Amino acid sequence: MCSNCSIQLSPQDTEAFAGSLLGILNNGATAMMISIGHRTGLFNALHETGACNSETLANSANLNERYVREWLGTMTTSGIVMYDPSTGLYSLPNEHAMLLTNAPDATNMAGFMQWISVLGDVESEIVECFHNGGGVPYSSYERFHDVMAEHSDGTILGGFDQGILELIPGLEQQLIEGIKVLDIACGKGHAILELARRYPNSQFVGVDFSEEAINDARISASAADISNVEYEIADVSKLNYSNEFDLITAFDAIHDQRDPATVLSNIKNAMSNDGIFLMQDIAASSNVEKNIGQPLSPLIYTISCMHCMSVSLQQGGLGLGAAWGKELALTMLDDAGFVGVETHDLPHDIMNHYYIAR
Ligand SMILES: C[S@@+](CC[C@H](N)C(=O)[O-])C[C@H]1O[C@@H](n2cnc3c(N)ncnc32)[C@H](O)[C@@H]1O
Repeated sequence: MCSNCSIQLSPQDTEAFAGSLLGILNNGATAMMISIGHRTGLFNALHETGACNSETLANSANLNERYVREWLGTMTTSGIVMYDPSTGLYSLPNEHAMLLTNAPDATNMAGFMQWISVLGDVESEIVECFHNGGGVPYSSYERFHDVMAEHSDGTILGGFDQGILELIPGLEQQLIEGIKVLDIACGKGHAILELARRYPNSQFVGVDFSEEAINDARISASAADISNVEYEIADVSKLNYSNEFDLITAFDAIHDQRDPATVLSNIKNAMSNDGIFLMQDIAASSNVEKNIGQPLSPLIYTISCMHCMSVSLQQGGLGLGAAWGKELALTMLDDAGFVGVETHDLPHDIMNHYYIAR
């Protein structure tokens, strides 16, 4: 019996719970090894090489055999890679490769596993915050912008052809003819770089306060020889554009703000009279009980606690957290003066809602 509630647990429940904890431990460990497989190119190499032993795989990926063999141990015992003891050969089934490699048409989930390691890096700082409050600065997350950009390439760049642009009727035609677009907290700027490439008559501006991310964004634009995009290093809570942009986008960029209410109000001011705000933000409810049973809830609260909430708190901010939820998002959009707000979900991106506001 639970000491503070009336839920009665049977011995079988306790046994099942122990099994579930064991599964969590194994899955957490495997997630880190999947991240390593992604970063070292091992999944691609195994897929391309076909059935092979650890030495052949290490050679084809240009890696150390002893480490590759241990990695194969995790992959084999977790059911990701198949092993034939009679030949000593390992293989990656095509059906698994479609979810773990960069093969054409693959939905690469291996990249997502990098979050576990990125967050693991700051565990001690987060433990300190549990004792003393405060937060963790962006600078503590060594690979944050790289992993974020890779993550967004999947959901946003991939999503431009999977319904994002169609959410706003007539938008594509406007982009073809030429409009002004602002991307708030653009990170490494891939989203508007892609739009700038597709729509040369439109003008794009990306703003982020990370020097590292904006420098990378500028390098990408110049390498691609795209001149209708510019990037600014600036704090979006201090933006003073007025009545200037026909479309403003914020991809996964409002909930972790220090002062999200001011940022939303700055966005409203920066929009032209018939301008549109497209906000992609985490799909969750503001009420924890409604998030129970949703497939990504534990991940969302973890990323929030170990990054989104804590980077905001570190700046003396609100610390909304990634699970601020649809209810609060709609209230805050309303408070900032937006009207006609619509919320959409797209099948390619189960982690986010898409809000259209005018
Ligand atoms: C979760 S990331 C999203 C980045 C990008 N939109 C994407 O989808 O890849 C949030 C971004 O917000 C930026 N950011 C946070 N607070 C900011 C502020 N006050 N002004 C400008 N950028 C900010 C961070 O540097 C980071 O790049």
